[in-house]
Amino acid sequence: MHHHRTIILGAGAAGLFCAAHAGPDTLVIDHARRPAEKVRISGGGRCNFTNLDVSAENYLSENPHFAKSALARYTQWDFIELVSRHGIAWHEKTLGQLFCDGKSGEIIDMLLAGMRAAGAGLRLETSVAAVSHDGARFRLDSNRGPLSCEHLVLATGGKSIPKMGATGLTYDIARQFGHRITETRPALVPLTFGDRFAPLAGVSLPVMASTARARFAEQMLFTHRGLSGPAILQISSYWREGETIGIDLLPGCDLAAELRARRQISGRRALTTELAELLPARLVEFLAPDLGLAGNLADQSDARLAEIAGALANWQLTPTGSEGYRTAEVTLGGVATEGLSSQTMESRHRPGLYVIGEAVDVTGWLGGYNFQWAWASAHAAGLAI
Ligand code: FDA
Repeated sequence: MHHHRTIILGAGAAGLFCAAHAGPDTLVIDHARRPAEKVRISGGGRCNFTNLDVSAENYLSENPHFAKSALARYTQWDFIELVSRHGIAWHEKTLGQLFCDGKSGEIIDMLLAGMRAAGAGLRLETSVAAVSHDGARFRLDSNRGPLSCEHLVLATGGKSIPKMGATGLTYDIARQFGHRITETRPALVPLTFGDRFAPLAGVSLPVMASTARARFAEQMLFTHRGLSGPAILQISSYWREGETIGIDLLPGCDLAAELRARRQISGRRALTTELAELLPARLVEFLAPDLGLAGNLADQSDARLAEIAGALANWQLTPTGSEGYRTAEVTLGGVATEGLSSQTMESRHRPGLYVIGEAVDVTGWLGGYNFQWAWASAHAAGLAI
């Protein structure tokens, strides 16, 4: 039986970062062949590693206050300083989102270097079948033999992208030690509409997407299966089956006034031609039959222009579903926060047990927020160990 002071389950963003802070005799284990594969594919290969503007309001959780403590004690500025100290060049893309200039592998190398500098070990292709506690130590049955430790950190992430090795292991172990798991569901995920939007596949435009609980002004993309793009991924975290989402196709534009002004100047032009100057032409063509977009501008009364503007500002759509964990960037929900200390991420049920990263019921918006939570929660646990 190999004993370690600390074992971290999961060599992803949170697990590797925690290893750099967890003190001596730490071992990180993961069933994958390579560590931090999600970091590798993140941000289109450039890793959107944090955001310039981070607060608890950028996260969904049953307890909206839970993330505050860890986020305040390890901030985006701390991580930016670390990245810069490692000579990793970065840039702001949009909305405060920070990406590597080069490849996301640079972030993985930095995490591995931090872990090694702290003297922690990494064992890959190692799976754990069972975990128990004998009153003094945790005991793990792995495919490479039994292991024991005083501190066990659960960092196996959420259920999204099972093809990449995502499992619900943290939920199972946490449940075993008395933790409640909130409802988990795919989030930051494209929404499906059958083949309704297939003719528009590839069309993209800025919109305001909303549900009763949230609204996001970002790009929207039509796909063969439905809707995607940042606005839709963001709103998907708030959407529930059967609900309608509202899309403002021309956010910030007083379309009725715009069309009235155009009617004065070019009343003989077709309504669809004018609209195609404001919206993608393929979308106007697609909407024309449903909205009765016909005739010249001069044919349209003020009331009719107001009606068209209203319809385009509040396009009501009911998704048939989402693309699910297959493509979801994150899992909403997880280990319920009431069972964890917000200061240290330690279990209130089993001292010595910690849960960090995406496995906790703290889910960030799109834009670097999920990694910032991984860094902050890992740092909180690492310092406490
Ligand atoms: P993470 O998933 O990183 O790591 C978990 C580790 O546990 C993995 O190495 C896995 O192999 C291992 N594991 C799982 N089950 C196990 C088991 N049974 N036994 C042993 N090991 C096990 N976020 C962001 O802020 N900016 C971004 O740009 C992106 N981009 C992005 C793109 C895509 C395509 C996805 C899918 C996700 C993102 N994200 C993101 C989200 C981000 O990747 C995610 O929130 C963090 O990686 C979560 O970090 P964790 O360490 O908690 O889990």
